[in-house]
Amino acid sequence: MAEWWRDAVFYQVYVRSFADSNGDGVGDLPGITSKLDYLVDLGVDAIWLTPFYPSPGADHGYDVADYVDVDPLFGTLADFDELIAAAHARDIHVIVDIVPNHTSSAHPWFTEKRSLYVTAPAENGLPNNWPSNWGGPAWTLDEERGEYYLHLFAPEQPDLDWHNGDVRDEFDKILRFWLDRGVDGFRIDVAHGLVKDGALRDEPEPFPAVRFSSDWRTAIDQPEVHDVYRDWRRLTNAYDGDRVLVGEVVFSEQARVAPYLRPDELHLAFNFSLVFQDWDADAIRSSIDESRAALPIVTWVLENHDVTRIVTRFGEREARAAALLLLALPGPVFVYQGQELGLEEVDLPDEARQDPIFRRTNGERKGRDGCRVPIPWTHGLQANAWLPQPAGWSERSVEAQTGRPESFLELYRRAIELRPHGAFAWRESPPGTLAFDRDDLTCVVHFTDERTPVGDVVLASDDEQTAVWARR
Ligand code: NOJ
Repeated sequence: MAEWWRDAVFYQVYVRSFADSNGDGVGDLPGITSKLDYLVDLGVDAIWLTPFYPSPGADHGYDVADYVDVDPLFGTLADFDELIAAAHARDIHVIVDIVPNHTSSAHPWFTEKRSLYVTAPAENGLPNNWPSNWGGPAWTLDEERGEYYLHLFAPEQPDLDWHNGDVRDEFDKILRFWLDRGVDGFRIDVAHGLVKDGALRDEPEPFPAVRFSSDWRTAIDQPEVHDVYRDWRRLTNAYDGDRVLVGEVVFSEQARVAPYLRPDELHLAFNFSLVFQDWDADAIRSSIDESRAALPIVTWVLENHDVTRIVTRFGEREARAAALLLLALPGPVFVYQGQELGLEEVDLPDEARQDPIFRRTNGERKGRDGCRVPIPWTHGLQANAWLPQPAGWSERSVEAQTGRPESFLELYRRAIELRPHGAFAWRESPPGTLAFDRDDLTCVVHFTDERTPVGDVVLASDDEQTAVWARR
C-alpha cells in the first residue's frame, strides 16, 4: 500500500494561535486535542504542529531552548502524549516541527558547549559580509568570549555547526525521542540551511530586500547537508508506520529542491512555487508545470505562518477559487489554519506587532503577525488573544460558518471530501483559464470574467463559477 503521506491533506497548526484551553490568550496542546473533531469533520489526514518546545519566544518557538520537552505555556509532555493518542484514535497523523539550523541563545548548549555553534574569532572584525535574513549582519560579537557567533535569523537564534559530528549525534537523539513518542514525522525548519560554507566566504551583493526565498544565498545549500538527510532517512526507516520527513527548502526554482528528495533523503519538501505567483493563469500553469517536471513528488502550498493570507494576496473570490485549484492538484497539500475560514491578513497596529522582523527592520518590513492572529472559533471573539482579532471575525468564526453551504469552511469541507486522486492531465482551455482532468473530474479555474462551458458541476467556488469541479 502507498504511504499515507503521498496524497495527504496536511493541516498546519500554528500552536500559539489555534485553540486556547486555559484562557491565557495563547493556544496550547490541550486546546488542539479539544478541536480534533473539528479537524476530522474538515477531513484532513494529518496535522503539523509548529514548535511547542520550551523557548523564550524571540521567534515564537523557532528559538528552541530544550528540544525534548513542552513549553509550560503550551502544556506538558503528558498533554502531548494525550494529543498524539487522541489524534491517532481518529486516524489523524501528527508531524512536529524540528528546528535544527539554530537553537535559542537560552539553550544550555550555547553557554556550556559553544563548539556546537558557528563562531569566528573577533580580532579582524566581522568574519564576512553575511546578512541576517531579518536585517543587520548575521554575526553578533560575544565580547566575553572574544568571538562572533553566526545567526542567519535573530541574534537570539545562534546557528549550529553541522560540520561538527556532535551536533548530528544530538539531533539523532532528539529525533528518536519524538519518534519513540509516536510522532509520524517531522517538518524540518530551514532544511537547506543547516550546513554553511566552511570557508565562510562572502556572499554576492547587493542582497535582496525581501528574503523569503534563499536563491541569493551562496553560503548554504552545501553538499554535506544531504548526508544529514541520508542519516535521518535511515533513522526514520527503522521505525514502523511510514514516518515522514518534510523539508522546508525555500528556493523559487524547484530544480534546486529536487536533490533533497532523492530516494534516500527527504520524503517531501514544501513546494513554495505557488506562494510566489500572482493570481494569473499563465503564471500558475507554468509554476505547476515547472514543479511537476522538477520534483519526484510535488506538494502544494498557498499559505503558511510566514506569508500573507491568500484572501489578501488574491482577493476573496479568487481565494475560494484557489481552494478548488489547490485541492484538485495531485500530491500532498498543506492547508494553514484559518485558510479554510477565508481569514484575511490582519493589519495590526504597530504596537501590537511582535514578529522580530518588524523590530529588526525598524518597521520597514511589517513582518508576519498579520497571518498569525488566533483563529476565531465563536461569534464571541477572544478579548485577550495574544494578537487582537478584528471585530469582523465574528462572521468568519467556525461557529458562524458551520453548516452555511456558501461559507468558506463548507467549501473546504466539500472539496476535501470530493478531492480527486487519479492521474493529472491538462485540458485545452481558452486564455485566462486553467482546466485539467483527474479521474472523472475536470477542474476549471477562470481568472477573468469570461466563462467557458463546463460539464455537470459537482462543486463551484461561488455562484459565478470562478472555479468548478465538473463531472465528465
Ligand atoms: C522558517 C519558519 O517557518 C519561520 O517562522 C522561522 O522564523 C524561520 N524558519 C526561522 O526558524
